[in-house]
Amino acid sequence: MKLNNRPIVKTAFTVLAAYMYSTSAHAQHTIYLETAQNALVLQTDSAHHLNNVYLGRRLNSAAGYEQIGLQPGDYTGMYNSAYTPAGSRNLLEPAIAVTHADGNNSLDLKYVNSDLKKLSDDISLLEVHLKDPAYEFEVTLFYKSYYREDVIEQWSQIVHHEKGQIILQKYASANLSLKGNSYWLKHYHGDWAHEMQPQETRLTAGIKTLDSKLGTRANLFMPSVFMVSLDRPATEDEGQVFCGALEWSGNFRSDLEIDPQNNLRIISGINNYASPYRLKPSEVFETPAFVYTYSDHGIGAASRNLHDWARKHKLLDGQGSRLTLLNNWESTYFDFNEEKLKALLKDTKKLGVDMFLLDDGWFGNKFPRNDDHAGLGDWQENRKKLPNGIASIAKSAQTDGVKFGIWIEPEMVNPKSDLYAKHPDWVIKQPHRDEFYFRNQLVLDLGNPEVQDFVYQVVDSLFIKDPNLAYLKWDCNAVIYNAYAVRLKNNQSQFYIDYVRGLYKVLQRIRKKYPSVPMMLCSGGGGRVDYGALQYFTEYWPSDNTDPLERIFIQWEYSFFYPAIASANHVTDWGKQPFKFRVDVAMMGKLGFDIVINKLGDQDMKFCQSAVQTYNQIKQVIWQGDQYRLASPYDNNVASIAYVSPDKTRAIMFNYLINYRYDEGSKRPVKLKGLDGSKSYLVKEINLYPGASPSYMQGIYAGDFLMKIGINPQVDNNHSSVIIELDEAR
Ligand code: GLA
Repeated sequence: MKLNNRPIVKTAFTVLAAYMYSTSAHAQHTIYLETAQNALVLQTDSAHHLNNVYLGRRLNSAAGYEQIGLQPGDYTGMYNSAYTPAGSRNLLEPAIAVTHADGNNSLDLKYVNSDLKKLSDDISLLEVHLKDPAYEFEVTLFYKSYYREDVIEQWSQIVHHEKGQIILQKYASANLSLKGNSYWLKHYHGDWAHEMQPQETRLTAGIKTLDSKLGTRANLFMPSVFMVSLDRPATEDEGQVFCGALEWSGNFRSDLEIDPQNNLRIISGINNYASPYRLKPSEVFETPAFVYTYSDHGIGAASRNLHDWARKHKLLDGQGSRLTLLNNWESTYFDFNEEKLKALLKDTKKLGVDMFLLDDGWFGNKFPRNDDHAGLGDWQENRKKLPNGIASIAKSAQTDGVKFGIWIEPEMVNPKSDLYAKHPDWVIKQPHRDEFYFRNQLVLDLGNPEVQDFVYQVVDSLFIKDPNLAYLKWDCNAVIYNAYAVRLKNNQSQFYIDYVRGLYKVLQRIRKKYPSVPMMLCSGGGGRVDYGALQYFTEYWPSDNTDPLERIFIQWEYSFFYPAIASANHVTDWGKQPFKFRVDVAMMGKLGFDIVINKLGDQDMKFCQSAVQTYNQIKQVIWQGDQYRLASPYDNNVASIAYVSPDKTRAIMFNYLINYRYDEGSKRPVKLKGLDGSKSYLVKEINLYPGASPSYMQGIYAGDFLMKIGINPQVDNNHSSVIIELDEAR
């Protein structure tokens, strides 16, 4: 195929999607990767240095990409480098820094060639090879594009053939450039029970770093997800926005730097803090992927891109089903026995959910797990609480016709445990310093293959005790203090990377043997929510904070990056809202309960049972539908969010009173989004408390009306939570 008389390599897609072609007498190359809406354009200069020249809406004619070129006035010609090497001409934050085998700290990377493979109708993989002209040092940049979802995953591979080890001082996954007049960063901070607290700020000259050095439970203070709006803060439906996340469950670092030409450089990867990595000749160092999407139609579209991508390509069983459950954590804490658990199995059945989830406290004998000071590491059933073992509970579950799942925290150890006494060298702690605990526990050195075997066997042994085990809740409650692994001796700088790689190795082994058993990713709440881990998990626990009013905000923020099907939401006794409000909030994801069922009043019980049935009717729309944030809890007295089925025949709209002051409520209609304007919908309130009359009167409305004029969900102090179902009226 020819374009402007220049040869073009045929693309991965039926629609032209990505190709490379020679452009000028200076032997420039333009390489571009197109998705349904967007394009990422890379270009070499006359000296074969590769730059990011464009990331944004794709052009009508691909010929335009070669006309982009670099901005004049760049002293180095590499402010927009596609992978900025340190120590040669670079003046800005590098993506990669290296100490060569001869002790030299400079790196230059020149374009060698590139290759584009079509992996499926939707997915293409672009590889771009770079090499240092002075050293036997090579980098391959990988760009995996998801055409329909408008998502790119980007990572790099580093290899050298020098005479001896080199030291990688920095090794980013992605180095991108955005071009705007101003940049607005929305990022998150938090702590236990305060996950996903947003902050939006205009970026000023200099570098803003988002990072974690916590090792495990790495997102406790800051998750790796963020978004950047160009020119002005994007809204749900307007504005240019870039959303990104590092697929890594350990220390991360994202630098956002405004360069001297007012472009925004984004460099994201594993945090190089305390981690200069020694790389042997021919050993390949692969970074985790950085995933991102861009939309010029606001944050709503960007988040739906990520949801689609996650469900189809990343989250384990993203298009599958999920189990509703009854959990015993907040109803019993550590205080239970076989009899109590068997009663809970009956409650599970009575409630109508799929499964009973046994939480913390079932293990440890010499050091029984009766509170959080002892027992972690000793994964044998506590004989006092469970004289007949898990097998007996599992058997009763079968008799009662419910599934059975169990909590573990296999990466951890309490000093009060047999494991700690037996394997002190497996424990992360400094040889010459006092131990320092987080929740009275320490972390095992998962970089150690013996520890990996141990953790794998903890899981495997559970399936030996109960071959029908239906679910695992995998917790991780501590950060890493006093980072030191006995096994690493005088090379501790691999410590943090080895840990996460070790964790993934174990998860891969588990998934090989148990490919589809649902697992919840929990970390003292949402301390470990990232796409690196979520490829092995079906869902995550957003926060131990289950106060429904708080959860509206927390779930709202997660929803910018993660689909509802992955959000495990439990009804608990937290918060002051009515019971129905709590159940409604938990329905916006994967529904579970963690309350004392046998203490529920008659009406509450009836409501719960019918709510579970209602949820079963609507869950597919919540899990697989397109999510629209209609009214923000930050700006409105009433928050609204809707899920619309892909074929636009059904939608579920959730509405909550946020402001409890006198006479507050929904005063105006809320406009729906994502419906079919030419269809009509039967609109009715669902999930009513027994005896309550609907606040919203049933009626048929045109999709056009619902999206242009909207409906008032009639939320007020007496109806603080209203769920509305919309079904195509035929
Ligand atoms: C963490 C989890 C909770 C619960 C406890 C058990 O805090 O987030 O849901 O499992 O551990 O100790």
